[in-house]
Amino acid sequence: MPRKTLVIIPTYNERESLPGVLGRTRAAVPDASVLIVDDGSPDGTGEWADQQSGQDPHVHVMHRQGKNGLGTAYLQGFAWGLEHGYGILCEMDADGSHPVEGLPKLLAAVEGGADLAIGSRYVKGGSVVDWPRRRWLLSRGGNLYIAIMLGLHVRDATAGFRAYSVSLLRRLNLAGVQSKGYGFQVDMTKRAVEAGARIVEVPIVFRERQLGESKMSGGIVKEAMLMVTGWGLARIGRGIAHVAHIASGKDDSGHRSRRNRGGGR
Ligand code: GDD
Ligand code: MN
Repeated sequence: MPRKTLVIIPTYNERESLPGVLGRTRAAVPDASVLIVDDGSPDGTGEWADQQSGQDPHVHVMHRQGKNGLGTAYLQGFAWGLEHGYGILCEMDADGSHPVEGLPKLLAAVEGGADLAIGSRYVKGGSVVDWPRRRWLLSRGGNLYIAIMLGLHVRDATAGFRAYSVSLLRRLNLAGVQSKGYGFQVDMTKRAVEAGARIVEVPIVFRERQLGESKMSGGIVKEAMLMVTGWGLARIGRGIAHVAHIASGKDDSGHRSRRNRGGGR
């Protein structure tokens, strides 16, 4: 039997985009439930979502007081999904950038044994349409920097279109996730890799939003950059310590190993 699925959609001022995206989501994966996590959008997104939830038992809404960041919205959404017995938890933007019709492919990947399926712009068959060159460079550059600093072997580590198996989420220390903004996606990717997760990248075409505005800001980029740099330096530090340890010829007990003792056979 397919696992119970929840699609989590964080929203801040998405009154124009959400209706289309929610309708397409309900059509693409009719058995799945949707959780909208709204941060008190001044444009009435939360009220509109409440109306929908009143008419459709598959639609749920979580209201938070103020704009608290994408990362914390997802963490609260995950907690709700774990509590309510879902088997797969998806992440998706409200602005139509992610191809909703690709949801079944992400779910199939998880049903097929992946712990995490990522809707990826940067694998063969994936692409980005209509992004300003500046934004494209930021995303490609960011992913390149992440690859060099963290060596995760995931081509789109910042992607926001994903399906997680609940068994993986339970294994990750979600309480330790600090990142509030989009660095959250990198943080989660890193944790998944470290937990030995089976990660599959499913190609998607990402389209720039037609309505409303991006919430990306300089602060969000800075948070992600600092985080990745910190993790990368720690990793390089561990690498140097490891090489120094081998070069010293000592085994883990601190004694010189037999092989390196010299004078032997
Ligand atoms: N509840 C809540 N609180 N929702 C938020 C917040 C917040 O503080 N900030 C953004 N969102 C919602 C938006 O309403 C939208 O549904 C989604 O999160 C993504 O926000 P956008 O502003 O559209 O993001 P983007 O297009 O710049 O970035 C996308 O691509 C990034 C990678 O390039 C997202 O998918 C990111 O997750 C991804 O890292
Ligand atoms: Mn967007």
